[in-house]
Amino acid sequence: MSFDLVLFGGTGDLTWRKLMPALFQAFRHGKLPAGGRILAVARDEQSDAHYRSWLKERFQEVDGPKRPTDDEFGRFAELLHYKRMDLSHPEDYQALKQWLEQRNADTAVLYLATSPHLFPQICEQLGASGLNGPKIRIVLEKPLGHDLASAQEINRAVRSAFREEQALRIDHYLGKPSVQNLMALRFGNVLFEPLWRRESIANIQITLAEGLGVGTRGDFYDRTGALRDMIQNHALQLLTMVAMEPPSRNDADAIRDEKLKVLRSLKPFTEESVARDVVRGQYRKGAANGKPVAGYLDEQKVPAGSRTETFVALRTEVQNWRWAGVPFYLRTGKRLAARDAQIVVNFRPTPHNIFGGNNQPNKLVINLQPEDGLELHLLAAKGTGQQEALSPVSLDLDFDKAFAENRVGAYERLLMDAIAGKLNLFVRSDEQEQAWRWVEPVLHAWTRDNDGSGGPRPYAAGTWGPAAASALVARDGFAWAEEQ
Ligand code: BG6
Repeated sequence: MSFDLVLFGGTGDLTWRKLMPALFQAFRHGKLPAGGRILAVARDEQSDAHYRSWLKERFQEVDGPKRPTDDEFGRFAELLHYKRMDLSHPEDYQALKQWLEQRNADTAVLYLATSPHLFPQICEQLGASGLNGPKIRIVLEKPLGHDLASAQEINRAVRSAFREEQALRIDHYLGKPSVQNLMALRFGNVLFEPLWRRESIANIQITLAEGLGVGTRGDFYDRTGALRDMIQNHALQLLTMVAMEPPSRNDADAIRDEKLKVLRSLKPFTEESVARDVVRGQYRKGAANGKPVAGYLDEQKVPAGSRTETFVALRTEVQNWRWAGVPFYLRTGKRLAARDAQIVVNFRPTPHNIFGGNNQPNKLVINLQPEDGLELHLLAAKGTGQQEALSPVSLDLDFDKAFAENRVGAYERLLMDAIAGKLNLFVRSDEQEQAWRWVEPVLHAWTRDNDGSGGPRPYAAGTWGPAAASALVARDGFAWAEEQ
């Protein structure tokens, strides 16, 4: 299958940090379909050769094992082309159209790795210049809007030029191998499905913790905050994967219909429940990896006195028969104690304890980061004598070890799916809008400052966030995984 992949924002951070390394890995693994061209598009005038050598430089900053050798880069570079475009000039789109038509590949994927405020304009121009035919798909990167109204505006612009199945909204968390395994675990095995419900599960925790601060992205981050940056998209997408009903087919719309149902079943926030069930925090100075680090307000490009949250913990429920009454706790933050992304399914205790002792209920941990894998925590008897208490043991499935060299990273997987037209792992516009609808009351309450907290609660860098986050879970008689 021949393809053309056009990267708008071809000299931007996303392109060289994530997309090009992922494309190179696909090339190295022999997964990039033969007969492909990759065209980087940006404002500056430069030749293909100049762009290739610029990218080669940039690759020096990529993780060691993911860096190409000179020989590998030489072969990969043959696929790379560069075109100057002013995204407001219709004639530049015509030139792009001609470039694509010269070869008329089986499919053309237009990846918008630009600032999202350009999306409506780009879509309009693509539509007007006829770059929206059936062989064309566009890929949109987050942030897709700032609130429901702006997300709807982007979607309207996309729809004015493209059909829904031509528009692929990326949430890179859906490309992570553990998320694939969550689907496999739930719908490819019989073991867990009968237990995957309120009768057996006490609570579910989704933690997306980062050790890093906002780094050089202070201006972007300050306009965004943790709720928009991580909860509205990544955390909610993971929640839908955990809570959805089994889809009738392994097909994009069957899966996305089920995910949408979950989003629509989330307990809506009220002013009262925002104050009770949502904790916002902001890091102060502290330590990371044993070294002192600055607080958020002292980071580059963060305005003095900012009240942007760098931490959110919240409690919600999925209001349906399967999940009624089961708390779902979501938590994310910058400068936390570790880089640790995981989903923890806490089962109920046995109804009658014949062994004595304070036995920990079973727990299934789906690790997304830093390593991906599954841990099933059980209780066992050591067999060392009479009256012994049960001991915790865990079954550890290390996917990295089991599937080692065949594993692919999130962007690699999603880019290959975009080229192949496989939409299962892309977010549909109605899901995305519903997720905005659900978080909006929280945003409003914070803007009006009527959640009773007086602004984000401070927490020291290198900790697990404000104490109020622990209290939120303790109120139901539970504890976060690291406190158990
Ligand atoms: C991005 C956020 O979507 O995800 C970043 O904008 C965040 O702020 C990043 O650091 C985390 O992704 P990952 O894959 O490193 O956990």
